[in-house]
Amino acid sequence: MEGKFNVISSLVLVSGQCQSDQRQLLLELNLSGSFRSTTFATPLGRLMKWNQTKDCCSWEGVSCDAGGHVIGLDLSIRGISSPIDDSSSLFRFQHLQRLNLAFNWFKTSFPTGFDKLENLSYLNLSYSGFKGQIPVEISRLTRLVTLDFSAFPISKTSLKLEKPNLDMLVQNLTRLRFLYLDGITISATGNELCRDLLPFTKLQVLSMSDCYLSGPIPSFSSFKNLRELNLGDNQLSGTIHSTDWSGLSKLEIVDLSNNKLSGTIPPTLFGIQSLRRLFLSQNQFNGSIGDLHGKASSLLGTLDLSSNKLQGQFPMFVFELHGLTLLDLSSNNFSGLIPMSAFPNLRNLSDLDLSYNRLSIDAPATNISPPSFPTFTALELASCNLTEFPGFLKNQYSLNYLDLSNNQIHGEIPNWIWKSINLWYLNISQNFLVGFERPMKNINSGIWILDLHGNQLQGQVPILPSYATYLDYSDNISALFYQLILSLCNHTNLQVLDLSNNSMSGPIPQCLFQMSRSLGVLNLRRNNLSGIISDTLSKSCRLQTLNLNQNLLEGKVPKSLGNCKMLEVLDIGNNQINDSFPCQLKNITMLRVLVLRSNNFNGHIDCPGTPNNFRGKLHLTCLGTWKAMQPNPDKNQSELKHLQFEDFGGGVKYQDAITITIKGLELELVKILTMFTSIDISYNNFEGPIPGVIGKFKELLGLNFSRNAFTGSIPSFFGKLQQLDSLDLSSNSLRGEIPFRLANLNFLSFLNVSINKLVGPIPTSTQLQTFSEASFENNTGLCGPPLKTACGLPSAKEDSPSDSETGSIIDWNH
Ligand SMILES: *[C@@H]1O[C@H](CO)[C@@H](O)[C@H](O)[C@H]1NC(C)=O
Ligand SMILES: *[C@@H]1O[C@H](CO)[C@@H](O)[C@H](O)[C@H]1NC(C)=O
Ligand SMILES: *[C@@H]1O[C@H](CO)[C@@H](O)[C@H](O)[C@H]1NC(C)=O
Ligand SMILES: *[C@@H]1O[C@H](CO)[C@@H](O)[C@H](O)[C@H]1NC(C)=O
Ligand SMILES: *[C@@H]1O[C@H](CO)[C@@H](O)[C@H](O)[C@H]1NC(C)=O
Ligand SMILES: *[C@@H]1O[C@H](CO)[C@@H](O)[C@H](O)[C@H]1NC(C)=O
Ligand SMILES: *[C@@H]1O[C@H](CO)[C@@H](O)[C@H](O)[C@H]1NC(C)=O
Ligand SMILES: *[C@@H]1O[C@H](CO)[C@@H](O)[C@H](O)[C@H]1NC(C)=O
Ligand SMILES: *[C@@H]1O[C@H](CO)[C@@H](O)[C@H](O)[C@H]1NC(C)=O
Ligand SMILES: *[C@@H]1O[C@H](CO)[C@@H](O)[C@H](O)[C@H]1NC(C)=O
Ligand SMILES: *[C@@H]1O[C@H](CO)[C@@H](O)[C@H](O)[C@H]1NC(C)=O
Ligand SMILES: *[C@@H]1O[C@H](CO)[C@@H](O)[C@H](O)[C@H]1NC(C)=O
Repeated sequence: MEGKFNVISSLVLVSGQCQSDQRQLLLELNLSGSFRSTTFATPLGRLMKWNQTKDCCSWEGVSCDAGGHVIGLDLSIRGISSPIDDSSSLFRFQHLQRLNLAFNWFKTSFPTGFDKLENLSYLNLSYSGFKGQIPVEISRLTRLVTLDFSAFPISKTSLKLEKPNLDMLVQNLTRLRFLYLDGITISATGNELCRDLLPFTKLQVLSMSDCYLSGPIPSFSSFKNLRELNLGDNQLSGTIHSTDWSGLSKLEIVDLSNNKLSGTIPPTLFGIQSLRRLFLSQNQFNGSIGDLHGKASSLLGTLDLSSNKLQGQFPMFVFELHGLTLLDLSSNNFSGLIPMSAFPNLRNLSDLDLSYNRLSIDAPATNISPPSFPTFTALELASCNLTEFPGFLKNQYSLNYLDLSNNQIHGEIPNWIWKSINLWYLNISQNFLVGFERPMKNINSGIWILDLHGNQLQGQVPILPSYATYLDYSDNISALFYQLILSLCNHTNLQVLDLSNNSMSGPIPQCLFQMSRSLGVLNLRRNNLSGIISDTLSKSCRLQTLNLNQNLLEGKVPKSLGNCKMLEVLDIGNNQINDSFPCQLKNITMLRVLVLRSNNFNGHIDCPGTPNNFRGKLHLTCLGTWKAMQPNPDKNQSELKHLQFEDFGGGVKYQDAITITIKGLELELVKILTMFTSIDISYNNFEGPIPGVIGKFKELLGLNFSRNAFTGSIPSFFGKLQQLDSLDLSSNSLRGEIPFRLANLNFLSFLNVSINKLVGPIPTSTQLQTFSEASFENNTGLCGPPLKTACGLPSAKEDSPSDSETGSIIDWNH
């Protein structure tokens, strides 16, 4: 809720004695709230701490005019969850001028009774949880000055402005000055927006972030009173014309971040003399900023130009902006050598991000920091060609976020770094650090998130922050595994632990698995860990990712893994596990990536379920509970989110990385899309038919069953897995013909059925014939293109058993 102007002062509060009918209406307000922690609804009076023995005009959130009529009602931030319908007494406060229901959980469709409150000048329903179409009745509130309907953009359907559209909603609201519609689906182009709002040139605030606005960014040049313009998080494109901005002499806040704007940033924008905050990050602005020496607004406090394509010399004019508190120029292509000694001019700077440019920061290890040096709270200098720990950091006692990753820092991690009480995020990954400076006493660190990966740390890793929730010690830390783990086992807050790629050896201590109560991510892949996986996963296991790939682990998959109901990624590939299919996973509905590749698994991949009387089949496929693999009607396919763990706050996310063998290639997936689902059980000794339940996994993208001992035919249900991108059934003992339905798989880009006992013609389709011969070779009797063997007479059907004969191919239970 940044950047909203305080307009409360426009109301003169002269409270009279409360009228009894007004008091009655207040008591009739049949609203209550239930906070997540309590199951009991609390009546509104208690939520608001209304003392009934007092005059109702003095009640919290209530304001009256001189005649004792309620003219203002502020019920914001109360967790009210009971629905409001049109008969609510709320709509009988005829004198009401200001109504605030912001930040509640109404969760119903938008009530239509607001038009009865015809004297309303201030209506704030932001983040109140109302859903659906904004009703046309609002357009009758002709006295409205302030309208705030902002919402969380949860989905495109949560709150929308279609019928009525923006034009119909506002056309009669001629007094409107402050308009906030953030997060509402408006789906207009910039030009439509401007046309609809043209009569409202007196607008002071226009805030429409995340509204699905598109097309070229319009000109607001006639909105001379505009103080705040927020059009961030849309799809606006085109360039910003310098003339559009020169006359807007009252503009204080401009937010156009996260759009598709391009071209250069016109100097006139920086030159608006009232400008205090400018957000242009995450666009495609290019070119250089030019020499703005003496031309930029001296009031600028916030300047965010990050994640564009700006280039040229570092914009030195920023050192003239003495009021700067936040400067973010990260992820551009600026170059130059920046001496830290230039910063004392920016006394108020607390938040600086210069990461990922082509800058070299000159910050000597010797302690330079004159008294006027900025006091940083967040400092990000990733990839800034630093060669040592900057000495000025020693005096930065307010620092809470420090990123020095991806530099050329050699030597030891200085011990003073652990003494800063406020520091909660420390990222010194991808440097050349070799150890920890001793002594390490008097450590009072409150670090939660510590990323040391990609260094060359050796020897004893000290017992580090006991509040830590996130520890990344991966890639080349050669510590003594056992000693390190034992020191970590007391960290009851730990949620992410990454020790991958470290050549650590020895058995995994039991206590690590007992930590699954707090751990969401445990990544031990690419080590030399041996022994068995201890069967001590907690009943309240919260693991979402367990990655043990590429170790020397033996024995069985622990039964207690079934406790981990939130598991999404399980990778135990490339070990020496000797077990049957891990049926303890069958109740884990969230599972989306399962890698058992290259172990000694054997037996059928069915899991026995409740006895099925129908036809007396013994093997039932109970994996139908894997919901993540099945179509979800609520899911918005177009939203490509990455699978990541982000429970521990601070906006920091852990990105799972797995190695997946798909399309015959071993691929490192650093970002797993949430829609990515895959099963890789190749290189084992699984036998029996391919179970029918696979036919339900319509979300599957990759399936690798190669190098096992599967028998039976290729089930025709594969033809229904319309998302399937990669199917590898090679090197098994599959018989019969390739079902003609397989020709339906339009997305399939990799298919391998070679080295089986398949016969008959390869079904003709545009898809199957695009694969190479290698996909089909070494079978008993396959023929037709792309193979060179032509098909003769139709073969006898003896090798093509019907579905029902292959055991469990039909899942009768569903
Ligand atoms: C309500 O107000 C009365 C009169 O001012 C006061 O005596 C009483 O303590 C108050 N009750 C609560 C629960 O605050
Ligand atoms: C609405 O406002 C007008 C003008 O301020 C006033 O005359 C009228 O009495 C108000 N109506 C109510 C019901 O308060
Ligand atoms: C609406 O109310 C919320 C909560 O009180 C506040 O943060 C926000 O600034 C208000 N909006 C306007 C436009 O006053
Ligand atoms: C900026 O990008 C535009 C295309 O969007 C291109 O035409 C122009 O040459 C680029 N300018 C610079 C300085 O790179
Ligand atoms: C720096 O911040 C202080 C306190 O907020 C303020 O009084 C002062 O004017 C600011 N300095 C500049 C140059 O804006
Ligand atoms: C960065 O700028 C240099 C020239 O200053 C140019 O050669 C290079 O291509 C630019 N890089 C990107 C990613 O735009
Ligand atoms: C990094 O700094 C070194 C000297 O410390 C310098 O030689 C080198 O050119 C710098 N690299 C870049 C990309 O600026
Ligand atoms: C630390 O920085 C690296 C690279 O600069 C980044 O990949 C990683 O995600 C960061 N770690 C955390 C915990 O944010
Ligand atoms: C890993 O660290 C060791 C020193 O501990 C170093 O000799 C080796 O080169 C490092 N490996 C890589 C790939 O950086
Ligand atoms: C493993 O660590 C080494 C450094 O020792 C690094 O070069 C390599 O990229 C890492 N591999 C993976 C897959 O992270
Ligand atoms: C872990 O905690 C136990 C008891 O709380 C304590 O005895 C033990 O020394 C601690 N271990 C480490 C390595 O801190
Ligand atoms: C798995 O779920 C079934 C019902 O869906 C239930 O009967 C069974 O007890 C569950 N098994 C485990 C190990 O939780």
